[in-house]
Amino acid sequence: MMYRKCLIALALASSVSAFSQRTETLIRNWKFANEDVEGAQSTTFNDSKWKNVVVPHDWAINGPFSKEIDIQKVAIEQNGEKESTEKTGRTGALPYIGTGWYRTTFKVDAGYQRTLLVFDGVMSCPEVYLNGKKVGEWKYGYTPFVLDVTSAVDRSGSNTLAVRAENVAMSSRWYPGAGIYRPVRLIQTQDLAVKPWGVTVTSQILSTNNAIVSVKTELNKNEAGVVVENRIIGGDADCKSETKSFSDGSASAQIEVKNPKLWSPETPNMYKLLTVVKKDGKEIDRVVTPFGIRSISFSAENGFQLNGVSRKFKGVCLHHDLGPIGTAINKSALIRQIKLLKEMGCDAIRTSHNIPSPWQMEICDSLGMMVMAESFDEWIYPKCKNGYHLYFDNWVEKDLTNLVLCHKNHPSIVMWSIGNEIPEQGSAKGSKIAKRLVDLMHALDPSRPVTAGCDRVDAAVKNGFIQTLDVPGLNYRTHKYQLAYDACPHGFILGSETASTVSSRGVYKFPVKYGENVTYPDGQCSSYDLEACNWSNIPEKDYELQDDKSWVVGEFVWTGFDYLGEPTPYDEYWPSRSSYFGILDLAGLPKDRYYLYRSRWNTEKPTLHLLPHWTWNGKENDTIPVYCYTSYPEAELFVNGKSMGRKKKDASDLMKRYRLHWDDVVYTPGSIKVVAYDADGKAVASEEVKTAGKPHHIKLDTDTKVLKADGEELVFITASVVDKDGNLCPTATNQLQFSVKGSGRFRGTCNGDATSTEVFTQPRMKAFGGQLVVVVQSSEKAGDISLTVKGAGLKSASETIKVE
Ligand code: GAL
Repeated sequence: MMYRKCLIALALASSVSAFSQRTETLIRNWKFANEDVEGAQSTTFNDSKWKNVVVPHDWAINGPFSKEIDIQKVAIEQNGEKESTEKTGRTGALPYIGTGWYRTTFKVDAGYQRTLLVFDGVMSCPEVYLNGKKVGEWKYGYTPFVLDVTSAVDRSGSNTLAVRAENVAMSSRWYPGAGIYRPVRLIQTQDLAVKPWGVTVTSQILSTNNAIVSVKTELNKNEAGVVVENRIIGGDADCKSETKSFSDGSASAQIEVKNPKLWSPETPNMYKLLTVVKKDGKEIDRVVTPFGIRSISFSAENGFQLNGVSRKFKGVCLHHDLGPIGTAINKSALIRQIKLLKEMGCDAIRTSHNIPSPWQMEICDSLGMMVMAESFDEWIYPKCKNGYHLYFDNWVEKDLTNLVLCHKNHPSIVMWSIGNEIPEQGSAKGSKIAKRLVDLMHALDPSRPVTAGCDRVDAAVKNGFIQTLDVPGLNYRTHKYQLAYDACPHGFILGSETASTVSSRGVYKFPVKYGENVTYPDGQCSSYDLEACNWSNIPEKDYELQDDKSWVVGEFVWTGFDYLGEPTPYDEYWPSRSSYFGILDLAGLPKDRYYLYRSRWNTEKPTLHLLPHWTWNGKENDTIPVYCYTSYPEAELFVNGKSMGRKKKDASDLMKRYRLHWDDVVYTPGSIKVVAYDADGKAVASEEVKTAGKPHHIKLDTDTKVLKADGEELVFITASVVDKDGNLCPTATNQLQFSVKGSGRFRGTCNGDATSTEVFTQPRMKAFGGQLVVVVQSSEKAGDISLTVKGAGLKSASETIKVE
């Protein structure tokens, strides 16, 4: 193999030049109108009365919630429904349908010749106009796309950029958001420059001492002999290669990295590749590409391996909304999600069921989270009347191409998914399409395997659909794993979507029992984690497969966080408008289930968690079962100091294998306390839950005390209603009000109640389960932010956040 050796001694100064060869700026400030306005693309159009908005923006998140929005009279075939019924809240009951226009202006710098616009995603069907002329369009709202607008740009004056987005009813199975919900970038370069997404980095680990990094660079022009310098920075590496472009404007290099620091969820080591393009000795472009060195493989012998070590995915599926801030993407909100998941021991996410945003992938790279990057929920057969099937024929290649081009360098992405529960699994035609798409993905990226989530397992096996995939993925149907394993040549099966257990944070229903599609008059689900849907299951059903079948390579639980829309099992119940599937609720507060997953997934820190709460006024002398989710093998429960006995995990009984429970506990106010024992029978930890008194004051917990003065960063502050001794009042529903002063603004609030119609963006909300989360955003000015939370009859609380 040909490669250049490290030139460690390379002087840094030699490649630094005074002039910046390209600029990249986010276009943040826009004017917005929530209607279809004739002539809005024209340069002479007067938008002075339009609203000022900052992109990323979601025009629908301010609500109000309404039952009438996108009522869908449908039978959800995937859920086994045969007859159509009226589904309310299926897409979140927020006003996302309609047209929105965005307008802004920008100037270009005389020193550059090329102008590019990069859209990370616009919901949906964006049409882009520059100086009155249409310069591009896309259909699928999740796809990043690049427009070279060089010929339409006015180099001497101001340029008017206008974007139209349109959402139609019955186009989604969840809340899709609305408008320019991901960043827009303006890139200026010289004429001869690196193409957008024109650097491809792959790595091959040869031994612990060395890896080979292969770099392909594609230039805007088909020009031979252009010097392309690639330099790797990071870890102990500082190595460089210099090659010349071929006549098609591409250049290839292979660079050896000594003692590579490998990327993994536990060690998210990143490198930077600096690509410098030179002509006639003059630097004309430079691009920095972050990348990681890691290997992935799937095999019958070793299952899934990352860097040569077998492991099973401890994954969750995520929809793209961020609860109270909607789909308007925000780095702080994404970081918070990933950190909460990592604390649970989760090591992978599936971007269900669509193309992720670059910001999310950057965060997965840097924090250490593997990713199954998915693409579609539909091909040619509709799940929704106006879904992606309308575009599949003309757009599927373009969408998949951009998915790969945009995201190929993220080490976090360990596989692509070409679809979720595609109904065509059941037809021979479907298998052919699958083969075509798998081949396309292989051609675009030979380094990653391709999967899809199959739910019609018998049909997918019979038609050869599942066999065409590199990684056979099963959604639910734990009883079909063996069949799929036997039928597939692969020798392993992935749980591409699992569980779909439902629960509402802090809500417990009696008697405690297992149930499918169970509903209650209050629109909530029980947090004893025994309720699922008729196609899904409680977590233990997956745990036993993962533990007992060496050939099952992990799972992606539906879902990590609750999301807007799909309020199953309350699809027909108003006002349910968000999901119950989350391990964490829509506010990002952990449900009890968080600790069940944590007890097996987080192998670094012990878990000891008790449920339910112990404030059951009026239920004195009733039976209230007590459950304990713990990483310890054994525990003893005490009610008001009296032992209820020791319980040990018991592998012979699924319901005792992973959780401990005392089913006959009689409620008496006071406390429940659990003492955990290690494998040697030694008492090592304890946890106590006390009966709360009356709501007395508000307690605030903040996830950070310092924000950047960038007008973007968010702080998430949990407000809890507590009694005079500081115990959470677990049934408190006090109305709380928020006021924010100083260098920030109130951005949103959420209590995790799937049936709440209080809007997220008003500074007041009722507590749910005694809690809610307030989101505050920094301004661009340094100083202090002060948040005060008040509630009638409660002592208020304040928190100060520094903005610097
Ligand atoms: C699956 C589907 C998901 C979600 C889930 C709810 O079948 O892939 O998108 O609808 O069911 O359980």
